[in-house]
This record gives sequence, C-alpha cells and structure tokens, in this order.
Amino acid sequence: MGRLDNKVAIITGAASGIGLAGAQVFAKEGAKVVATDVVADVLEEKVKEIVSDGGDAVAISLDVSKAESWDVVINQTLEKYGKIDVLVNNAGIHIAKGILEAELDDWNKVMAINTTGVWLGMKAVIPHMKKNGGGSIVNTSSIAAITGGFGDGHGAAYSASKGAVRSLTKHAAQWFGDDNIRANSVHPGAIYTGMVEKTGIKSQEEMGSNYEGRSALKPYAGEALDIANAYLYLASDDSKYVTGQELVVDGGWTT
Ligand code: NAI
Repeated sequence: MGRLDNKVAIITGAASGIGLAGAQVFAKEGAKVVATDVVADVLEEKVKEIVSDGGDAVAISLDVSKAESWDVVINQTLEKYGKIDVLVNNAGIHIAKGILEAELDDWNKVMAINTTGVWLGMKAVIPHMKKNGGGSIVNTSSIAAITGGFGDGHGAAYSASKGAVRSLTKHAAQWFGDDNIRANSVHPGAIYTGMVEKTGIKSQEEMGSNYEGRSALKPYAGEALDIANAYLYLASDDSKYVTGQELVVDGGWTT
C-alpha cells in the first residue's frame, strides 16, 4: 500500500529538481499525479518516464503566475481524476540581485512566480478541496524566509517572496482548518538542482563545498529527494494533525 493511494496531487514546477523528485515519489506512493510546469516539452518527457515506471501521471502546461492557466489545470484535473486532494506549490525562480542591484522588472518577475503563483494556486484549488471534504496544501518557501538570505547567495526579491509564502501559508491554515484543509510550508536549505546548476555550480559536492560548515550535517548541500520526502509527509495522512507549520529541511543550517 502506498502512502498516497487514491489521492490526486497537483505539483507545480515538476519538470526539474525538487518538483520532479516530488512527482516521482508521489507516483511511487500511489498518487495520481498532475505534473505541471512552464517547460511543456521537458515535462512531457519526464512524465512519460514516470508512467513507464508504472506511475499514474499526466503532464499539463502551467504558468503559475497566470490565473487562466490555473483554470486549464483545474478543469483538466477534474475531467481526468474527478477531485483534488493535494496541491504542492513548488515552482519558483531565483534572481541573485540585492536591494540595490535589482530592477523593478526583476522584483516583479520573482514576486509573480514565487508569491502570486502560490496565492493563485490556493485560490484555484481550495473551492474544490472544500467540496471534496478537505485536502493538503504544501507551499515551498526557503530558509531565506527565516534568515533573510545571505550575501550574494539570495536575492532580495527572492527572500521577500519566500517570506510571503511562509505567512500566506499560515493564513490559509487558519482560514480553512474548518474545511479540513491543511496548509504547511517547506523550507529547503541548500539543495543541488537545476536552479543551482544555472548559476554555474556543477555538482552537489561543489555546492556543498561553497557552504562548508554552514549546516550541521554533511554533505553541506542536500538533494532533491530530501525535500520530496518532506512533501510526501505533508501531503499524506501521516501529517493529518499538522497545519500552519514550517518544515525546515536544511541539514541544521538554521539551528
Ligand atoms: P528548478 O529550477 O530545478 O525547478 C523549478 C521549476 O519551476 C522548473 O522546472 C521551472 O521550469 C518551473 N517554473 C519556473 N517558472 C514557472 C512558472 N511561471 N510556472 C510554472 N513553473 C515554473 O528549482 P528547484 O531548486 O527544484 O526549486 C524548487 C523550489 O524549491 C522553488 O520554489 C525554489 O525557490 C525552492 N528552493 C530551492 C532551493 C535550492 O537550494 N534548490 C532552496 C530553497 C528553496
């Protein structure tokens, strides 16, 4: 028996990194996975692999920052699977510019995807979760929401966007607890993924060596599966009495 048997789960940013690992783990645990991303062609390939490994999954193109794009995802999900039990708002971007270096466009782009996208996702699924008797929402924040970020590692808009995700999640938990809808945030530390690769860092080891001693645990950078397992816990009924919480998965960085 899987930990997500019979659950329909929408995951955003599922073509790469943490979101892809989440989609793979959820499918292995019996979920019907609605994998979404802006990069439709890459997503199609990844979802084909999940299906050929025996998973039940579908790929749907989604730009999280566009309300009409969410409408398409919701309609197609309900058409195929009839309900929505889980939403993982994982999609995100990072622009490594501080307060003085960032331009307004940088700020707006990061906020539109990392924060507005999370709000739009919750707004789109909550009415259906209510009808269905409940659900679990997992929003991806960051340790940047707790520490404010560091040096040139975290951009100003990024830290602010992830702080907003943290508080928006607690808001949702309080407003929709009566509807048996849970909302929790996950706060990854340094995790080697496509987002990090784009900055020129070539491996988990190289990423870790840049942060030597920052986390309590070695290696000093984690992997996508470490976060996917946190998503699994919060999506499953194992966490049925957990809501409004921040699950920090950072190897002890923020301790
Ligand atoms: P990634 O870059 O490997 O994956 C992000 C995915 O989001 C990509 O597939 C991308 O196409 C998709 N995406 C971007 N804009 C989108 C949009 N408008 N609509 C839909 N999808 C869109 O990055 P990673 O590392 O897997 O990040 C996943 C989440 O984890 C993000 O929210 C990120 O901020 C968060 N995070 C990552 C950390 C890390 O060290 N990798 C640390 C803390 C948080």
